[in-house]
Amino acid sequence: MTRPTRSARNSEAASCTPEAIAASPLARYRDLIDDWDAFAAALGRPLPTCVWANPSRISRDELALLIAEDGLASSPQPGLPQALSLAPGVRTGQRWWYCAGLAHAQESVSQLPAQLLDLEPGQRVLDMCAAPGGKTAQIAFALGNRGTVVANDISYMRIKALQGNLDRLGLVNVTTTCRDASNWPTASGQFDRILVDAPCSSEGTLRRNPSLLARLDPANAQRLGPRQRLLLRKAVHRCRPGGRVVYSTCTFSPEENELVVADILAEFPGTLRLLQVSLPGWETSPGVTHWDGRDLAPELARSLRFWPHRNDSGGFFIAVLEKDASAPAEPEPEPAPLDDADGAEWLEGLRSKYGLPDDYWSGYRVNRQTRRGLHLMAADHAPPAQPPAAGSGLFFHRTNARPPKPTTGGAMLFGRDVAQFALDLSESQRDAYLRRETFAPTPDQWEQCTPGQAVARYRGHVLGIAVLHPSGVIESQFPSRWSASMAGAD
Ligand SMILES: C[S@@+](CC[C@H](N)C(=O)[O-])C[C@H]1O[C@@H](n2cnc3c(N)ncnc32)[C@H](O)[C@@H]1O
Repeated sequence: MTRPTRSARNSEAASCTPEAIAASPLARYRDLIDDWDAFAAALGRPLPTCVWANPSRISRDELALLIAEDGLASSPQPGLPQALSLAPGVRTGQRWWYCAGLAHAQESVSQLPAQLLDLEPGQRVLDMCAAPGGKTAQIAFALGNRGTVVANDISYMRIKALQGNLDRLGLVNVTTTCRDASNWPTASGQFDRILVDAPCSSEGTLRRNPSLLARLDPANAQRLGPRQRLLLRKAVHRCRPGGRVVYSTCTFSPEENELVVADILAEFPGTLRLLQVSLPGWETSPGVTHWDGRDLAPELARSLRFWPHRNDSGGFFIAVLEKDASAPAEPEPEPAPLDDADGAEWLEGLRSKYGLPDDYWSGYRVNRQTRRGLHLMAADHAPPAQPPAAGSGLFFHRTNARPPKPTTGGAMLFGRDVAQFALDLSESQRDAYLRRETFAPTPDQWEQCTPGQAVARYRGHVLGIAVLHPSGVIESQFPSRWSASMAGAD
């Protein structure tokens, strides 16, 4: 299937006219919306691009400077202290600062569920429907890149994409699993926080994906509701007493939002309550308490609706649920067995080659999950034995390659701190590196580095691994699948 070009997408946006919106199934929400004309007009406008700064690598202001030097305008995103708003349609994946893991693109409202989880280091967190992983990454950083996040998705391909994002951002506290979360095993134990960012009819993403307008069908909401109830019910079961479950969707339909939450609240009387939460900097509307002839409990008004015309965003829904502290607690789960037999030797090899400080790896532990190489995890990362992991931590060293070499994610993790075997690239070398081209070293680079593998950096930010050949060329080892997105870069 060919992807629509940007101009095709723009003309689709043009087809999201107020008349087309009024004639679409969205008209059934007319009575829920305070200003229908503003709502319909907002859906016809393309969505601003939003990126957040990787807190382990750069501040938002520093990122804004790099983005400005790259010729793009940005402004602070209201209500999101780490995020910047850019023009609609910016292809962030083609920018060097994105490849270097300094930023992550995520729609603004989509960043709110993680904030409402009330995260603190030391909590054990489950993200049930996690791919492609923007919220997982936010959660993992909120825990200080320590402890245990389990990120699950039913789609293996989407889990692969999630893993790529986590590696680029340098996260070592996430285990990924791939299964239907409605069958999530009891043996995984209980979690302090659970996010159910449920599969939904996605009506709120129209500004990003205008072609959806032609496919909107209220039957989707009826079809998805039962699946969403299964997921939310499972989350409540797996939540620790006193813990929090956040349920979110990017759709408007009450059948997938308040009605789901109302039914699950009714199943757990006295054990589950809907919290009243606030989000400074955001205009929210209360959840719906009457729909399609049904009256819901007044507390459903505590859930939050985000209408596109109120915050210049997509549409979104969030409910924050708390499980009573008196609910029964379960014993800690059995931890997954780890194979770290040869890990210390490999870490020491890297430490001495790159001149890293003596105790450099003290906050980490190593796991040989595959014959291909080693994963690096936070020292206190403790994934459960069940369900089996697709991956734990960051795949950081290919020990079966000849010669062995750190992965790009691995190099990004330690490459800032190396005292030797670093190549500091010029701007044109940086672009050649990201296009996987070979290029000539400067005389200074010959002096800086002896032949062999080296960490490639641009202004102190790590891009990955390069090889300085004795013949006098630098070979890029930037991953081909990441480089493909750079091919058309400006
Ligand atoms: C709204 S998206 C999640 C977006 C993600 N939380 C993020 O922030 O990047 C919903 C996800 O649910 C997954 N999914 C659908 N049914 C599922 C199920 N039964 N169990 C687990 N994941 C499921 C889909 O593959 C999809 O990736």
